[in-house]
Amino acid sequence: MASEPVTPMTAPAPAGSDGVSWDELARGDSRPVPEFLKGHVQRDLGSAPIEASRYTDPEFFRAECEKMWPNVWQFAARQEEMPEPGDHVLYENAGRSYLVTRQPDGSVRAFHNVCLHRGRKLRTASGWAKDFQCPYHGFTWNTDGTLKHIPCRWDFPQIEDEAMALPQAQVGQWGGYIFIKEAEGGQSLEDYLAPLPTHFERWQHEEAYTTAWVAKVIPANWKACAEAFMEADHVSTTHPQIMGFTGDVNSKYSLYGDHVNLTITPFGVLSPTLGVSENEQQIIDNFVKYNGRVVLPGTTINVPEGRSARATMGDFNRHRFGELFGRDLDHATDAEVQDAFTYNVFPNFSPWGGFQPTVVYRWRPWHDVRHTLMEVRLLGRLKPGETAPMPAMTMLAPDESFADHLGQLGAVLEQDMANLPHVQTGMEASKTGQLQLARYQESRIRHFHKTLDDYLAR
Ligand code: FES
Ligand SMILES: [Fe+2]
Repeated sequence: MASEPVTPMTAPAPAGSDGVSWDELARGDSRPVPEFLKGHVQRDLGSAPIEASRYTDPEFFRAECEKMWPNVWQFAARQEEMPEPGDHVLYENAGRSYLVTRQPDGSVRAFHNVCLHRGRKLRTASGWAKDFQCPYHGFTWNTDGTLKHIPCRWDFPQIEDEAMALPQAQVGQWGGYIFIKEAEGGQSLEDYLAPLPTHFERWQHEEAYTTAWVAKVIPANWKACAEAFMEADHVSTTHPQIMGFTGDVNSKYSLYGDHVNLTITPFGVLSPTLGVSENEQQIIDNFVKYNGRVVLPGTTINVPEGRSARATMGDFNRHRFGELFGRDLDHATDAEVQDAFTYNVFPNFSPWGGFQPTVVYRWRPWHDVRHTLMEVRLLGRLKPGETAPMPAMTMLAPDESFADHLGQLGAVLEQDMANLPHVQTGMEASKTGQLQLARYQESRIRHFHKTLDDYLAR
């Protein structure tokens, strides 16, 4: 599929939609919508089928581990996980293990977490350390990675201290997120993420902190899991309860460069599939009932005569999130306090934009081609003078529900989880071995595979 020519897509988006497009909604916003959110950035990436073996074949998985993962910037930690010198986050993925470690000068280094004596992992959990002493024979490294001590030093005449420093990965930081890249050289983090940091200047993730963090192992390939969050055309079938306030098939899709893409899904409007609403109060009642991320349980919001649900929710959320975040959000658009701005950074990091409690997803292959660790975080904003508490990840058992920790968002996620194991076994059982993608609404999935192919071809 990589051979398709890349030309600008001239067709207006979203072709065939019956309702009001996101840009039309933006024109009716009570505040000026930022330029970068207007229009959409698309390319023609063709319409060839996708091979199911990309999700099922252990050889393909091995190729990803060898050629893709070492060469991409990976979201490894949030800054609030490691505030003090000696704090370290154990980050493991695709056969590698790292200790992402805060240095005395505030910088961050990422060491390969493997003892250079006989290979024991130095640490098996995140934490604080004055040094990294291997629990096996006591070889010890300073937290800057230099060798500190070898017991029975006389018995290792072949070793030079300088050559025994822990190997390091590259480290980059943006918006309170700490990234690592195993391979040397290549694109800087700044270039890799563009234009995402420019977009997020308004939303200030550097002042965010983790307020909830829940993970679960999903019996499906990591790409299948990530792709379940790259389009909104599954809403009407998988999440019918949210159609009463979600412009699902009016979502707008943009592809930026190789690594970044975006879905904007409008809320506060009826799904075009349900027709045109004559009852704005009903839309907001549905929103309140099924979107617990946004409102507290038991909240009622009355739509004044002649006003839309969307504008009413805009007013309500500007006030509520302004209080919650300790900030004046008067400049925030109706869109930015209610819509879903689902950004993806290749390959597995999805931070949402907007002035709302922020959703952040990360998907890591979990040891093999058919398991994924899916993590969901919510980020709040620090009020002036506040210090972020140290977050801890809650690992759910297979029979535990995201809904027990994330309310209505968790209930929606569990509907996605109900598909994914059967997506995997279905692809494994497929007679044709091929998947078909919608040309526009699933353009982010094609974009993702195109970039993956580019890495695999290197
Ligand atoms: S394996 Fe680490 S000290 Fe021996
Ligand atoms: Fe979903």
